[in-house]
Amino acid sequence: MNGLAMVMFLWLAIVQVHGMPMYGESIEDDYIHEDSVMQTNLSGDTILEIGTKLNKPFLMLIGKTLNELQMDTRQLLTKFNIVKDHEAVLAQDVCLLHPCSEWSAWSPCDANLREQFGGQNRSRSCGFNTSLCIRFAPPKVEYETQVCQNDYICPVDYTITEHGFCIRVYHSIKEKRDNAEKMCQLDGGHLVNIDSEAKRYDINQTLARYREIDIIWIDGKKIVAGGDWEYHFAPQEPDFYLWAASEPNTPNDLCKVYDRKASGTGLWYWWDRSCLAAYNFVCQIM
Ligand SMILES: *[C@@H]1O[C@H](CO)[C@@H](O)[C@H](O)[C@H]1NC(C)=O
Ligand SMILES: *[C@@H]1O[C@H](CO)[C@@H](O)[C@H](O)[C@H]1NC(C)=O
Ligand SMILES: *[C@@H]1O[C@H](CO)[C@@H](O)[C@H](O)[C@H]1NC(C)=O
Ligand SMILES: *[C@@H]1O[C@H](CO)[C@@H](O)[C@H](O)[C@H]1NC(C)=O
Repeated sequence: MNGLAMVMFLWLAIVQVHGMPMYGESIEDDYIHEDSVMQTNLSGDTILEIGTKLNKPFLMLIGKTLNELQMDTRQLLTKFNIVKDHEAVLAQDVCLLHPCSEWSAWSPCDANLREQFGGQNRSRSCGFNTSLCIRFAPPKVEYETQVCQNDYICPVDYTITEHGFCIRVYHSIKEKRDNAEKMCQLDGGHLVNIDSEAKRYDINQTLARYREIDIIWIDGKKIVAGGDWEYHFAPQEPDFYLWAASEPNTPNDLCKVYDRKASGTGLWYWWDRSCLAAYNFVCQIM
């Protein structure tokens, strides 16, 4: 029984004594009116005094017990302080032994293909203040790095380009734009977004092997005439620009192609085009 429970018990005992007088006598003593009992600190001495005054051995016993309990409690408190001192010493040891936080999760692996290795890192901060450890040196961040591979898979009928893009040229099939996109999605990808100089280079190199192809569907479509171009692959280089001169210029042409003939220069450019034409297409998986 802890101190508080004991006091509750004693308080109940007093109410009990008050409510159901022992020895059949009625108690009309100032000490034991409920109000005064409630307002009196129930020290062992007080109860002992009440017990003595009323000649109640039971109350006297409780009073004495409470006095002893209060001694015990004082000893316990002292002991507790000692325990706390030990804890503090222990905490200091722990702080010296392990002055850093847990490691963060590993950062994403920066290898963009399964066949390639990349790097990733994780960090932790060391020497910061916690509720357990107070430190006076400035905290620092530690890094750990490791070699990694992604479990990303470029399927066998896809090609990995020089800069690591996983693409497939559908050179023997011509489809309307939405069907072409659907076929890419069945592969787990989308129509390629020619959205960086590196990808432009790789796609150009790849298409150079297919002399018969001079136009392909690429990522990019407007939902409504004159609307914004929307992409499945968020543009890698948002400022990359490859529209042919004065393109796009036809609000009702909702789809985007890569065309090397229309400009007359032999260079591939973006053009807007009706989605209903049937062209070859290039898919990319990321
Ligand atoms: C009860 O104890 C508290 C703190 O020890 C004290 O401030 C208060 O005056 C005491 N009350 C009575 C009725 O003795
Ligand atoms: C940790 O890895 C990320 C992602 O690969 C990279 O951007 C960052 O620069 C790396 N940080 C350090 C300190 O190596
Ligand atoms: C940790 O707390 C102590 C005391 O509050 C302070 O003096 C010290 O500069 C703090 N250390 C760090 C690393 O924040
Ligand atoms: C292909 O892209 C490269 C740059 O990445 C460019 O220099 C070249 O002219 C392009 N070729 C064609 C045919 O558009």
